[in-house]
Amino acid sequence: MKIAIEQSKTLKPKPDQNNLGFGKYFTDHMFYLEYTVGIGWHDAKIIPYGPITMDPGAMVLHYAQEVFEGMKAYKAKTGKIHIFRPDMNAKRLRTSCERLYMPPLPEEMFIEAVKAIVSHEREWIPSLEGTSLYIRPFIFADDVVIGVHPGETYKFIIILSPVGSYYPEGINPVKIYVEEYYVRASKGGTGFTKCGGNYASSIIAQVKAQEKGYTQVLWLDGAERKYVEEVGTMNVMFKIENEIWTAPLDGSILPGVTRDSCITILKDMGYRVREELIPIDFLMESGRNGKLEEAFGTGTAAVISPIGSLTYKEETVTVNNFETGKLTRRLYDFITGIQNGTQEDKYNWIQEVL
Ligand code: COI
Repeated sequence: MKIAIEQSKTLKPKPDQNNLGFGKYFTDHMFYLEYTVGIGWHDAKIIPYGPITMDPGAMVLHYAQEVFEGMKAYKAKTGKIHIFRPDMNAKRLRTSCERLYMPPLPEEMFIEAVKAIVSHEREWIPSLEGTSLYIRPFIFADDVVIGVHPGETYKFIIILSPVGSYYPEGINPVKIYVEEYYVRASKGGTGFTKCGGNYASSIIAQVKAQEKGYTQVLWLDGAERKYVEEVGTMNVMFKIENEIWTAPLDGSILPGVTRDSCITILKDMGYRVREELIPIDFLMESGRNGKLEEAFGTGTAAVISPIGSLTYKEETVTVNNFETGKLTRRLYDFITGIQNGTQEDKYNWIQEVL
């Protein structure tokens, strides 16, 4: 792919690595690619980061034809730049596009674009422990017509943001509220895709939970509100009597890259991983009788995030005395070690950005 480069005339100061927060700062440039029916993807360029103009009639503003991805670039101790399993994100973006009837971006093109913009913005990759350069690729329909039908023009953009931990708690346990009324997804819907709409409809429950003092919501299934699905920004895993439980990928769950990586690592460690329906009553009962040994979320933004308590129908069960569990810590160290190059990459998950 030929990528034109337009350099920004002014470069921004880099933020303090100790206070990055999540998604507050953006780098100097972004990647930009267009799609037109009959031509395909064309005119790849790296341009100064900044506002984009859009017609008020643009389809995405009305019918939310938009999908995105989340990835990170890491500065390894060797000075090399790593990205983690970009092939998985490329594949998931394609699946998301197909479900929203959008033109899929060829997977090699996606990886080339990610590497090109990360390489161009390499000075922005923070090096402090626990920091990284968050990569946000997204595609949306921007043709101008007020009618519900497939779009004819699309944009694919990648923006980058130096980040610290997603939750203010960092690697400390979070309090989770099990949502009984609202649902995130149902079978046949878009739960397995990373489309903006999934997140838009989740905000009301998240705010409700935060007002009550919880960090995030745990979603139950859309049909019966009986089985555990995922947390708003991560998949979830539970260690119950030395076995690992996580919801199966059956259409309403996001196929997380960190989820998949943890399953591989856990099986290699000798754990039985049960990708099965998890009744919320069984989970709460396991919490009550001490069989729920650890609980944690997995996600690109959240990495491995320990869960300290679960509250469902006015009852709270505390997990591992609200402390980060041994296995949770081990997984966190293992995955972040592979990402920053201090742990052998035995699965070949790392790709280098030159
Ligand atoms: C990610 O983990 O990369 C996500 O996209 C979750 C998020 C909404 C920040």
